Order: sequence, then C-alpha cells, then structure tokens
Amino acid sequence: MATMESLIGLVNRIQRACTVLGDHGGEGMSLWEALPSVAVVGGQSSGKSSVLESVVGRDFLPRGSGIVTRRPLVLQLHKTDRGQTDYAEFLHAPKRKYTDFAAVRKEIQDETDRITGKSKQISNIPIHLSIYSPNVVNLTLIDLPGLTKVAVEGQPETIVEDIENMVRSYVEKPNSIILAISPANQDIATSDAIKLAREVDPSGDRTFGVLTKLDLMDKGTNALEVLEGRSYRLQHPWVGIVNRSQADINRNVDMIAARRKEREYFETSPEYGHLASKMGSEYLAKLLSQHLELVIRQRIPSIIALINKTIDELNAELDRIGRPIAVDSGAQLYTILELCRAFDRVFKEHLD
Ligand code: GDP
Ligand code: NA
Ligand code: MG
Repeated sequence: MATMESLIGLVNRIQRACTVLGDHGGEGMSLWEALPSVAVVGGQSSGKSSVLESVVGRDFLPRGSGIVTRRPLVLQLHKTDRGQTDYAEFLHAPKRKYTDFAAVRKEIQDETDRITGKSKQISNIPIHLSIYSPNVVNLTLIDLPGLTKVAVEGQPETIVEDIENMVRSYVEKPNSIILAISPANQDIATSDAIKLAREVDPSGDRTFGVLTKLDLMDKGTNALEVLEGRSYRLQHPWVGIVNRSQADINRNVDMIAARRKEREYFETSPEYGHLASKMGSEYLAKLLSQHLELVIRQRIPSIIALINKTIDELNAELDRIGRPIAVDSGAQLYTILELCRAFDRVFKEHLD
C-alpha cells in the first residue's frame, strides 16, 4: 500500500504525461481537467508570484510592479529524496536541467516575450515548468496574470476583460482549487480575487483566502476581522502572509531569511500571536498539500473511470489506424496506453 504522499506524486506524473504526450481525454472531461490543481488569483501586485515563491521555497519568478506575469505558468512541484539537488525543467526545453534558479527566472521572461513580444500583451498559452526538490510538497500550482481595472499605455482596451476571462477559464473548473490573494493594505470588499472566487465558487468550498502585506497595514489597524473569517466567510481558514518587500528583494534577502522573518513576525505579533501556528507560507504549503490529498482520495473512483475510458478510446484509435503501425503516430498512443494501464493499477491499490 503506497502512502498518501505518493498519491499526489502519482497525479503529478499523470498530469505531466498528459502535457508531454497531448491530452487524450476524448470528448467530455479530459484526464488533465479531472485532476485537481491550485490556481493563484488576485489583483496586480497583490503578491501572487511572491506567495508562489514562498510556497516553493525558491526564488525563480519574475516579480515587481506592473504586469509581470503575462502567460499562465503551470508549475509542477515534485518532491525528491533527501540530499538531492534542486533542479527545474521546462516543457519547451526538456533536455536542459536548470540548477541556477536565476536562469529559470530569465527563461520565464524570455519565453513570455517569445510569444507576446516585449509588449505588455498577454497570451493564453501556458508555460510548463517542473521543479524537483526534497524541500517541496507535491503540488501543481498555476500562476496567472493579475486582474486589473484599467489598460495601460501600449495595451489594447480589451485587456482588462481578456485577463479576467483567462483567469476565469482556470478557476471555473470544478477541480480547480482557488488560491485567492488579497493585500491586507486594501479593503477586502474591493478584492478582485474574492470577487471572482465568489462568482465561481459561491459556497467557498474550494477557495483558500490568502492575505498578503500584513506588514504594510496602517499603524493602529489589523486584519483580525478577515483572518478570523468575520469579514468574508470561507469553508477553509484564511492564511496571513508576510512576503519580502521590494526593498528586501533589492537587498537580495534570501528565501530562508525571509521565511524566518515571516515566522518571527507572527510569533512576536501582539495582534496575531495567538494565530501564529496557522499563519505564514510554510503553513499554507502544508494546508494546500493536505487538501489536495483529500480531494484526490475522494476522486479515485472517477479518476479510474476516466483512465479506463481513455484506455478504451486509445484502443479504438489503434484499431482504426491498424496495428502494428507506423512508429510516429502509433508509438505515442502506445506510450499513453501503457501509462494509463500503469496508473490504473496503482490507483486501484489506493481504493481500499
Ligand atoms: P503579483 O503581481 O501579484 O505577482 O505580485 P508580486 O509578488 O510581484 O509582488 C508585487 C510587489 O509587492 C513586490 O515588490 C513585492 O516585493 C511586494 N510584496 C508582495 N507581498 C508583500 C508582503 O507581504 N509585504 C511587503 N512588504 N511587500 C510585499
Ligand atoms: Na506584479
Ligand atoms: Mg506575478
């Protein structure tokens, strides 16, 4: 009997296989869509990319003011054995293993520009990045462009709507877990993240509320109304976060120091001290991973059904093109078929 952890690892592998080989889900819901992933949603500069980096525990994302994230970034975290070196791999450059995470950041920027030009335009075409590390929890996270209210110089008038539609296309899927990011130094009633989350997930079942920039609130005010769920109720508890400030980034404060600073912030805070064990990026990563495990466990029967449907469709397709067949088209189908059979076996072990 495999452990819960390997169950998420397994889903990670299927999602990766679907991406590499093309998703053969047929009509209806595809296998990729049936598997849960976490989409990060919020207004521009609310701290989405910073939260993602804290969850991963590495610096690798372009960050800053204005519209930095201009293509969806599908980020798969794979937990490796202790002592292994961290590395990253892009789907568009599968032969290159990145151990320098500054080079990962540069490649995300370059790959964004390759599709959108150096303009402030956006594109729906995702960038797929995998990170392998002993220090991550198994998760698939999707970084999305920030929601905005106005187009800036050089952007088409439709950009506000275009971004909202792109983000909505990710979060409206019932298998999407929404990480709704709101900055604490703005009124929660005006939060773009909460507005969209409320629209697509009115019960708050699959929304995790994250409050960033607690350190930037006006003196004499605090966020207890939000963090204790009185301002906007969700099924899951709100998590408060203190990311690195722009000054920290400019001074090259590293991730380990930032996490320590964040922990100290909560532990010594007169307002939030009593919540310290349920605040911060490390707690958020654990919370998300636990939730993902639970969701996957509940879905095992439907995932098995989908895998079997995929196997049937692949067999039908192979019969149609005739076997044995040309290496090109056939080999790929065989690979997917073999993968599906293997996944089917492993999932069935998790049934009892
Ligand atoms: P995104 O546009 O939502 O992805 O936001 P970023 O993660 O790029 O952050 C935008 C800016 O806000 C950066 O300069 C960050 O350093 C800063 N920032 C984000 N979170 C916090 C926080 O919790 N505290 C402080 N002081 N600054 C933050
Ligand atoms: Na930004
Ligand atoms: Mg960003």
